[in-house]
Amino acid sequence: MAYPGAAACIAARPYGKNHLRPRNISRGVASAAGARTYPSHHFSPEQTAAQSSTRREAIRNAKPFSAFLTDTFQRRHDYLRISITEKCNLRCLYCMPEEGVPQSPSPDLLTTPEIFLLSSTFVSQGVTKIRLTGGEPTVRRDMLPLMHQIGTLRSKGLRELCLTTNGISLHRKLDSMVEAGLTGVNLSLDTLDPWQFQVMTRRKGFDMVMKSIDRILEMNKLGAGIKLKINCVVMRGMNDQEILPFVELGREQDLEVRFIEYMPFDGNKWSEGKMLPFQDMLDTIRAKFPTLRKVQDHKNDTSKTYEVPGFVGRMGFITSMTHNFCGTCNRLRITSDGNLKVCLFDNDEVSLRDILRKASNGKPIDETTLEALKAIEISHQQGILASSNPLGTTEYERELLDVIELAVKGKKEKHAGIGELENMKNRPMILIGG
Ligand code: 5AD
Ligand code: SF4
Repeated sequence: MAYPGAAACIAARPYGKNHLRPRNISRGVASAAGARTYPSHHFSPEQTAAQSSTRREAIRNAKPFSAFLTDTFQRRHDYLRISITEKCNLRCLYCMPEEGVPQSPSPDLLTTPEIFLLSSTFVSQGVTKIRLTGGEPTVRRDMLPLMHQIGTLRSKGLRELCLTTNGISLHRKLDSMVEAGLTGVNLSLDTLDPWQFQVMTRRKGFDMVMKSIDRILEMNKLGAGIKLKINCVVMRGMNDQEILPFVELGREQDLEVRFIEYMPFDGNKWSEGKMLPFQDMLDTIRAKFPTLRKVQDHKNDTSKTYEVPGFVGRMGFITSMTHNFCGTCNRLRITSDGNLKVCLFDNDEVSLRDILRKASNGKPIDETTLEALKAIEISHQQGILASSNPLGTTEYERELLDVIELAVKGKKEKHAGIGELENMKNRPMILIGG
């Protein structure tokens, strides 16, 4: 029997299992391109005819991508990463110190209605992919309702809803997440040895993570369609001996292992000696698997993808330290305290939270406040009250978009390179969103 949530979830995605719905056709070229990627033999002749007329219509109606999200190098930012918590139940060596990092006072953090409002604004401008990150997103108490709310943006053009997680408690929440529209999971796992796991994460939990991986693969066999990537940060002298066992994971399982070059962030004790460059990883793999070959990457991929012929899975390399991928960067980030960050390695940030909260006199917007504000907005629309409400599509959204545009237009062509990066001041990774 198929996984019960799968039917609903696939029904909502008639165009392919790893995508939600096609983009809102009135908004952009992406909708036409998105529709093109799905094979027509899945449809009856009538459906195909209807689909091609929709495609023609989409091409005719296609408007340029939102200027607010396009930078001066013509990069279109259609991918938003939102950090929904600063907390984490692990203490990975490469991420933060044993004692953790100082946490923001909770009124500073975005509430669920605020995260949803921001997500809607970005989707209305052409964002098609949202990834929830942290800290560890699953430790946020209301993360499931939040995900369900964001999932409703499928009808507004959201096509992918993804999660970056350490997998500790994921297995318990997966069913509900798939029902919300989850399409991809990037799961952090740096070692396949339970003891080494405890060394690298300073916590126990290896079995829980494996349980989550197994559950995803099991649900995928039943049609859940979750794209699974395993993130492995390679540290010389720590887990570099495990590259080949990680490659082996893809022999029979449909997953992608992504080897990540160790990056410097505040408090993570980075040194060049501890970083294993991509080329060294590739040499190690090629020595054992000489048939290793490059796979064509997608336009905005940050990783270089490879495969071993005969293996079901693939592998990727994230080479932030040795080859930047800034030229095709399409991502924006929102930190859990509501700042927009246009580049992982740029310290400039602008607060979107403060603009949102102008509508509530600077106070966090909770469900009750949101309902009250919506009621006022309806009254305005009906002409009952005089001035325009900031939470409508007028002042508040206009100001938000202006600030977003200014930040996006200020995005640099590329980030600093090795030699400069380690001396730069930046938030610890956990406060940016992995
Ligand atoms: N270097 C590289 N990747 C890192 N991550 C966190 N810290 C670092 C770092 N210093 C990435 C890991 C993890 C995700 C949450 O963030 O891939 O899976
Ligand atoms: Fe937590 Fe992820 Fe940082 Fe590890 S890398 S401590 S799992 S936030």
